[in-house]
Amino acid sequence: MNLATPQKISVQKIAKSRINEIDFENLVFGKDFSDHMFECDYIDGTWQNPVIRPFGDLTISPAAKVFHYGQAVFEGMKAYKDDDGKVFLFRPDQNHARINKSSKRMAIPEFPKELFFEAMHKLLELDKDWVKPGIGNSLYIRPFVIATQVGVSASHSDRYKFMIILSPVNAYYPGDVKVEIAEHYSRSANGGVGAAKAAGNYGAQFYPTNLARERGFQQVIWTDADEHKYLEEAGTMNVFFRINDTLITAPTSDRILDGITRKSLIKLAERDGINVEVRPIEVSELIEAAKNGSLKEIFGAGTAAVVSPVSAFGYKGEIYDLPPTTGGYSAKFKKELTDIQYNRSEDPFGWRYEV
Ligand SMILES: Cc1ncc(COP(=O)(O)O)c(C=O)c1O
Repeated sequence: MNLATPQKISVQKIAKSRINEIDFENLVFGKDFSDHMFECDYIDGTWQNPVIRPFGDLTISPAAKVFHYGQAVFEGMKAYKDDDGKVFLFRPDQNHARINKSSKRMAIPEFPKELFFEAMHKLLELDKDWVKPGIGNSLYIRPFVIATQVGVSASHSDRYKFMIILSPVNAYYPGDVKVEIAEHYSRSANGGVGAAKAAGNYGAQFYPTNLARERGFQQVIWTDADEHKYLEEAGTMNVFFRINDTLITAPTSDRILDGITRKSLIKLAERDGINVEVRPIEVSELIEAAKNGSLKEIFGAGTAAVVSPVSAFGYKGEIYDLPPTTGGYSAKFKKELTDIQYNRSEDPFGWRYEV
């Protein structure tokens, strides 16, 4: 990792904030962006020229490698505001570690922790009014890295741009989610990049997800690429299954993103005395549990979606409805998690990070 002492971040403030143009009650996820953004370039082997400037377009050569070889990684985080106006991040050290893990897999240089946190602090200090209080409201934080070297030879870039942009959001999925279990397409494979937040992982999901949408589902639950036998994760969420009172989720691997919400829910469940099994779960086990009534809940877990109950799943043309989730584990975990994130409860695990 390049741990060179970061240079001071230079700040160019916006002349007039755009905040009054935003309808904070009716946000479309990821459509609006705050006043400022962070930018830092990797040139000659070091990260340099860190700058915060007004959110705006970039000028990049059409020959930049990111456009040709998809060398790009990103993160997804949120800033939450409590009723006293204090702003918090949730386990941001994990996001920093994960973007570097993703970068490593994509042959991108790692980004220094000190600079990551300094950028986050400065940016959120400038744009703190964009973080609205109230459960469900947050400022989505999108750090990302792209390969900027000019040249279409198929090899890793020697120049990169690290950026952070901020987008005010409400809840990600309004209402319950219907998912389809993948039978043909795959999201990732052994030895591949599934565990990285590599841009191409997401682009590759859009086509099969669109096909599932045409059949009335919002999301796909991906299965293993070899046999489509084991349940893995959804497009932007890890997945939990409750059979009777046991909570089951797939183990992480090089095919599955090591979700921060996932690992936090496992900790909360263990604390609450719930039996948690982290193990491969077969589609056939799920179908059997749905048929014999022991399948009580399925829910997705992720920064954007928080905890999203699944109302039904589809498999081989059949629809399996889930019982109503009122009072279930998903509601319980959503409350416990958001209470920590919004500074409404104790934080026994030290997850909250005040900005
Ligand atoms: C593929 C995938 N799985 C799971 C998650 C959930 O991860 P986290 O809880 O860290 O947001 C995400 C979102 O980041 C994702 O993109």
